[in-house]
Amino acid sequence: MVAPKNQAAWLKVAGKALDISDAPLPAAGAGEIVVKNAAVAINPLDWYAKSGHMQDFGVFIQQWPTVFGCDVAGEVFKVGHGVDRFKEGDRVIGHTINLVSGRPQDGAYALYTVIPANKAAILPSSISFTDGVVVPFALEAAVCVLSVKEPGPCMPGVLTPALGLPYPSIEPLPWTGKTLVVYGGSSSVGCMTTQIATAAGINVFAISGAHNLDLSRRCGATETFGHKDPSLVEKVVAAVGTSDFVGIFDAISIPETYAHSLGILAKLGGGHLACVHPPPSDIPDNVKAGMIFAVNEVASPVWENFVTPALETGKLQCLPPATIIGKGLGYVNEGLKMSKAGVSATKLVVEL
Ligand SMILES: NC(=O)c1ccc[n+]([C@@H]2O[C@H](COP(=O)([O-])OP(=O)(O)OC[C@H]3O[C@@H](n4cnc5c(N)ncnc54)[C@H](OP(=O)(O)O)[C@@H]3O)[C@@H](O)[C@H]2O)c1
Repeated sequence: MVAPKNQAAWLKVAGKALDISDAPLPAAGAGEIVVKNAAVAINPLDWYAKSGHMQDFGVFIQQWPTVFGCDVAGEVFKVGHGVDRFKEGDRVIGHTINLVSGRPQDGAYALYTVIPANKAAILPSSISFTDGVVVPFALEAAVCVLSVKEPGPCMPGVLTPALGLPYPSIEPLPWTGKTLVVYGGSSSVGCMTTQIATAAGINVFAISGAHNLDLSRRCGATETFGHKDPSLVEKVVAAVGTSDFVGIFDAISIPETYAHSLGILAKLGGGHLACVHPPPSDIPDNVKAGMIFAVNEVASPVWENFVTPALETGKLQCLPPATIIGKGLGYVNEGLKMSKAGVSATKLVVEL
């Protein structure tokens, strides 16, 4: 039999288009699987990386040329030593770890990609690859927002948040009595954090674009607020009232959202401020601020025990919905441009 050929979308020079060319066919190491990708998704992190933005933080591109991308869906092609949750041919979704490993074979934008087995789950047959691929990176980010117990390193001088909340459960849980505000509820990470927190018995209030409030409700938010509402801070504070307020996950983390988040926290007596970028510098003593780093072993139990049954039962939905931009690795370049221009309540997906 002729060995399959791999190709990848290589970043050879920061700021240039990705170059679609041959790549070595990867092998599965211990604890790893190789996935034959059927769909990959685009994330804002990817164009930060391509533009060279992430290199300033010293955490991203570790060897050149590189292959990046965080989300894959496809069929298991090879299974490494010690992996017993998967077999060849299984339909899976997975979160790639090029961000920390630096290895090109760990980037999503290829025909074949290596995934740690504890960052993958079986994709039920009822769900297409292009729908399922919206889940992985956002899922891991959501668990990093919610369930890290102790602050750890994120980037130089910045610690991770540590909300220490319970894992999501397939069984219905009694409400914990806790309320979390998710700012940016229609973003990929916002949708997933709303779903995972809801499945952990946490009451979520979501702040989204006025046209996306229904999406936040589909994800489980019990109250929704438009982010352009001039009375946003007052309305959120009134809704939280005297409930057990955990804090805010700011999935957008820009000056405008920080101003509102800090305004809400000030009126509610403080709490956590979990960010996706470095937190603002003027943090009051009663606010515990941190930036998530969405590659973390804390997500393993969720990958192993929750994702597949939750997708099967609809407890976890593939939201925000995918927008398929084309078929073939060449469309990743188009996807990066579209992501940089900004999306609303969707995940850009390339079919392979
Ligand atoms: N630190 C980490 O480990 C980590 C991990 C994952 C992601 N991130 C970062 O997290 C951010 C979100 O990623 P993503 O993939 O979830 O993004 P995304 O889905 O591309 O975000 C798009 C959404 O942003 C919302 N938005 C834009 N401006 C807003 C504002 N002023 N207020 C409220 N919502 C606003 C839009 O909402 P409307 O259309 O409803 O207005 C839109 O639905 C990115 O900056 C990404 O780089 C960091």
